[in-house]
Amino acid sequence: MAGRIPQQFIDELISRVDIVEVIDARVPLRKTGRDYTARCPFHEEKSPSFTVSPTKQFYHCFGCQAHGTAISFLMEYEHLDFIEAVRELAHKVGLEIPQSGPDTAPAAPNTEIYDLLEQAARLYRDQLREHPVAVDYLKQRGLTGAVAAEFAIGYAPPGWDTALQTLGKTGQAQQSLLEAGLLIKKDQGGYYDRFRHRIMFPIRDRRGRVIGFGGRVLDKDGTPKYLNSPETPVFHKGQELYGLYEAQQALRRIERLLVVEGYMDVVALAQNGIRYAVATLGTATTPEQVERLFRAAPELIFCFDGDRAGREAAWRAVEHTLPNLRDGRQARVIFLPEGDDPDSLVRREGREQFEQRIAQAVPISTFYYEGLLKQTDISSMEGRARLVELAKPILSKLSAGALRHMMIAKLAELTRIDINALSRMLAGHAAPVTASANSTTPRPARPPRSGLTPLRLGISLLLHAPHLASHAGNPQRWRELTTRGISLWINILELLQAAPHLTGSAILEHWRNTKQEQLLTELAMDDLAIPANGYEAEFLGIVQWLDSQLREQRWAYLHDKCQREGLSGDEKREFLTFGEP
Ligand code: UTP
Ligand code: MN
Repeated sequence: MAGRIPQQFIDELISRVDIVEVIDARVPLRKTGRDYTARCPFHEEKSPSFTVSPTKQFYHCFGCQAHGTAISFLMEYEHLDFIEAVRELAHKVGLEIPQSGPDTAPAAPNTEIYDLLEQAARLYRDQLREHPVAVDYLKQRGLTGAVAAEFAIGYAPPGWDTALQTLGKTGQAQQSLLEAGLLIKKDQGGYYDRFRHRIMFPIRDRRGRVIGFGGRVLDKDGTPKYLNSPETPVFHKGQELYGLYEAQQALRRIERLLVVEGYMDVVALAQNGIRYAVATLGTATTPEQVERLFRAAPELIFCFDGDRAGREAAWRAVEHTLPNLRDGRQARVIFLPEGDDPDSLVRREGREQFEQRIAQAVPISTFYYEGLLKQTDISSMEGRARLVELAKPILSKLSAGALRHMMIAKLAELTRIDINALSRMLAGHAAPVTASANSTTPRPARPPRSGLTPLRLGISLLLHAPHLASHAGNPQRWRELTTRGISLWINILELLQAAPHLTGSAILEHWRNTKQEQLLTELAMDDLAIPANGYEAEFLGIVQWLDSQLREQRWAYLHDKCQREGLSGDEKREFLTFGEP
C-alpha cells in the first residue's frame, strides 16, 4: 500500500513546483493572455483546447475534460501513481519526502519481487521456444510470433520444479519466489512450482513491470482452465488490467478502451489490429479499475457475453461505472451473440466487422434505465415511485454536470415527476434546524448571481483567489447551518486562514481521494464569468448571505418554538428584534 505523505509536504511541494514548467517540459505550451495553451496530450485534436492556469496552478482541457494539479498531470501523462508523481516532482525541486514512520511506502523490499517476476517471465519465454507443443498451441489459436513476443507470452513446462530450480537457488530466493506467488509450500516442507504445463500470460503494471501471471492449460479438459497468481505485495487483481500497458505502448493516445473478459480475447484482438482491448483478471470490474481505465481513455466499451452471467456482469460494471462518469467521459456496453467471445468473433469476421459491431454499443445510462424498467411497472404511481427509489442510490452519487442532469431529466420523463422536485428528492433531506446566531444583517439578502449556488460560488472564488478567506471572519459561526456544502466551506476557510499562501491546486490536493474532490475540481475549472476585480465584492456578498441564512434559520426556529411550547423571556426579546419576517 502507498505510504502516507504528510499533507504539509504536499502543500510545500505544490508551492515550489510550477505547473507551467512541469507541463511545458512535456507538452510545449504557448502563452495566450493570462493562461498557456497547447493541443491536448490526452485526446486527438486539431486546435488547442488544453489550458494551463499559472495562478490556479491547474490544467484543464475543454475538449476532453482532463484536468488537475501538477501531481495529477504526471499521474495521467506518465501513468504514475500518486506517490510516484510526488516523488518525481519532489526530486525536480530538490525536496526530500519526509519518512513518516512505519506507514511509509515499502520501496526496497519489493524490488526483489519485481526482479524475480521479470526473470520468471524470461524463463517462461525461453521455455516456450523449447517446447513445440506450446508453440503449436499458440499457432493453432491464430497467434503470430510477433504478438506472442509483444505480450511476452511464455510456457511453464510440466515439471514440478522448473522455476524452483532455476530461480530459487538459495533459501532467501525461495522465500521470495513464494512471496511472488510462483511457488506453493508443501505441507511436509519444501516447495513446488505453482504453474506447470501452462501457457503463461505475464500481467504488467502501468510501468510495464511484470507483477503476476495468468496461466492457461493446454489440454482441453485440464482444470482450472486459467490459473492466476495469488494476491502478493505487488499484485492486486482488483486493481490491475491485462493489456493496459500494452495498449498504452502501442497507441500514442487511446481514444477508447474495450473491456473484455479474457486474456486470449485481448491478445487475439491485438493480433487483428484492435490494440485497445483490456481484460479484468477473472473478476467483476471494480471501481478502482474503472477509475484507472478512465484515466487512460475518455471512453470505455464493456463487452460481455450474451448469456445471463454476461448480463449480470454488465449490471455490476454499470453500477461501478456510472458514478465515475462525468462530462467528457463515456461508457457503453455491448453484448456478443451467445456462444461467441471477442476472440472467436474477431478471428471469424475480422477487424472491420468487429469494429462495426462494437460501434453499436449502447450508452450505459440507457442500459441502466432499461434494466430498472424491467424491475418495475411504471404504468402505476407506485411503480413510478419505486423507479425513483431504485435509481436513487446511483443518481445521488453522480457528480454535478451534464450527465447527471441528463439522467435526472430522463427519470423525470419516465416518472412524470417535475424535474426540480425530483432533484430535491435525490439530494436527500436537510437536517433539522438548530441555529443560534447573533448577526444583525438585514434580511432578506440577495442571493448572489451566477449559475452556481451561493456556497459553490463562494468555494469557487476561494479556489481562484485563496486570499479572500481573510475576509470571512470566523467560519465556525456558520457550523449549524443546514445549507448543503457548509462544512466543506468552513473547512476550506479554516485551512486558508491558517495557511494563507496556499494556491487553488494546493487546496485540491487536500481533498484528493475524498468525496468532495470531484466537486472542488469542477469549481476550480469554472471560469466564473466575474472579472477578477469583482471577486472580493462577490465574496463579501456570499458572507452576508450566509449570515442572513443564519438569521432566517434562527427566526424559523423561534417561530416554531413559539407555536409549539412558547418562548423564554430572552427568546421573546430576541424574536422581537427580527421585526416582521
Ligand atoms: P473464459 O472461460 O471465457 O475463457 O474465461 P476464454 O478467455 O474464452 O479463454 P479461452 O479462449 O478458452 O482460452 C474468461 C476469463 O476468466 C478468467 C480468465 O481471466 C479468463 O481469461 N478465468 C477463467 C479464470 O481466471 N479461471 C478459469 O478457470 C477460467
Ligand atoms: Mn475464448
